[in-house]
Amino acid sequence: MREASLTDLSRDRVLAALRTRALGRSLEVRDETASTNDDARAAAAAGAPRGHVIVADSQTRGRGARGRTWSSPRGVDLYLSIVERVALEPARVAPLTLAVGLGVADAACALVPGIEPRVKWPNDVWVEGRKTAGILVEASSTGGRVESLVIGIGLGVNRVELEPELAGSATSLRLEARRRDAAAGALDRSIALAMLLDHVERWVDRFVAEGAPPIVRAVEERLALRGERVRVDDLDGVLVGLAPSGAVRLRTASGEREAIAGTLRPVR
Ligand code: BTN
Repeated sequence: MREASLTDLSRDRVLAALRTRALGRSLEVRDETASTNDDARAAAAAGAPRGHVIVADSQTRGRGARGRTWSSPRGVDLYLSIVERVALEPARVAPLTLAVGLGVADAACALVPGIEPRVKWPNDVWVEGRKTAGILVEASSTGGRVESLVIGIGLGVNRVELEPELAGSATSLRLEARRRDAAAGALDRSIALAMLLDHVERWVDRFVAEGAPPIVRAVEERLALRGERVRVDDLDGVLVGLAPSGAVRLRTASGEREAIAGTLRPVR
């Protein structure tokens, strides 16, 4: 049998390092699963408490935004889903996603001092122009109101080899640490998970207490691709910033336009 290493996920070590009030206090660590978002949705339907977290060492059908696949190899990164129970109108899911992005960005800074993560609207965290995390928020609603949410986060932690289709567009915290110090070792994923949950909780609580304005202001300070030419689905223009709702604002040939959802891509 293989000996446990510090990069392994350990429920006991996550709980020992956790400083949250709710997130991760109820924690399930799985060796392998299809998708932690599916597991968390089933757990929410079965009555799991707010803050229940499912984290897996690997996923066989990891899901990204818009039906894309989320590459989820064993033993290197973090794949987790959080059950959140806030009563929200569906339009407020967008700023909630941004709040989670701020938490992920803060955790990345704390884990690798010196890096400057950016929030790439609406659901990515980038370091040095490459994606290091993706967020997939899925809502269950009744009567036009969101009853429970699943917040899925995939964070590149220790991966040093990327599939050809990701090389050039993705990165991991360890790869970014190595740019600064060639001898940088692997990060402890249990500590990384505890820190991630601390920072995400702080920003989600702030969103619940104060609404979108402080979230939008904070994202404005770390917005990726500002001033660059981008496309959001059919819209083409220069990324100006965010609207108070969390929508992205583009200066297009026909004036300023907003998009509340969609995929934003740089036009290079
Ligand atoms: C994106 O496309 O950027 C969002 C990626 C979200 C991936 C995470 S990994 C944990 C959780 N389980 C999934 O199947 N997806 C999310």
